Amino acid sequence: MTITPTGAHDDDSVEQGTRLPIAGNDDVVRVRQAVRECAQRIGLSLVDQTKLVTAASELARNTLVYGGGGEAEMTVVDNGRRRGVRVCFRDRGPGIPDTELALTDGWTSGGGLGLGLSGARRLVEDFTLESVVGEGTVIEIVKWSR
Ligand SMILES: Nc1ncnc2c1ncn2[C@@H]1O[C@H](COP(=O)(O)OP(=O)(O)OP(=O)(O)O)[C@@H](O)[C@H]1O
Ligand SMILES: [Mg+2]
Repeated sequence: MTITPTGAHDDDSVEQGTRLPIAGNDDVVRVRQAVRECAQRIGLSLVDQTKLVTAASELARNTLVYGGGGEAEMTVVDNGRRRGVRVCFRDRGPGIPDTELALTDGWTSGGGLGLGLSGARRLVEDFTLESVVGEGTVIEIVKWSR
């Protein structure tokens, strides 16, 4: 069981997660829309909805571009005090050799700005990154209601 800084547990899910494939640009758009709907449903403020959608969009794009595709799973969570939206991104791509470096502002292995991962981390309360070279990457974010 994973315990996140704000006290969420894996079994905090209040409903079955929704899983969406990420295999093309259209899927990134669908993930954005689904995350937005989920955030609206639990009553996140417009600002928090946008922060979550922006983070999810960056991570979905990385899943596609660097991970060679994968999936996003969104779940409504409840830690007893607050509700939140958890979004988990998984791919079976090459993995990230140095996750600290990858999380540095401005670091990119390609032609990007290198702001996706670091920016996403700042936009949410919980951010966990697990990556194994040759196996893939799993990134989980949670945005909590206030
Ligand atoms: N799912 C992933 N699998 C493998 N490597 C990844 C993955 N996500 C990110 N990376 C690596 O981490 C680096 C930093 O990612 P980040 O999103 O911050 O920047 P970027 O995608 O290069 O540029 P930007 O997102 O600003 O356009 C990437 O260049 C890539 O090398
Ligand atoms: Mg990126």
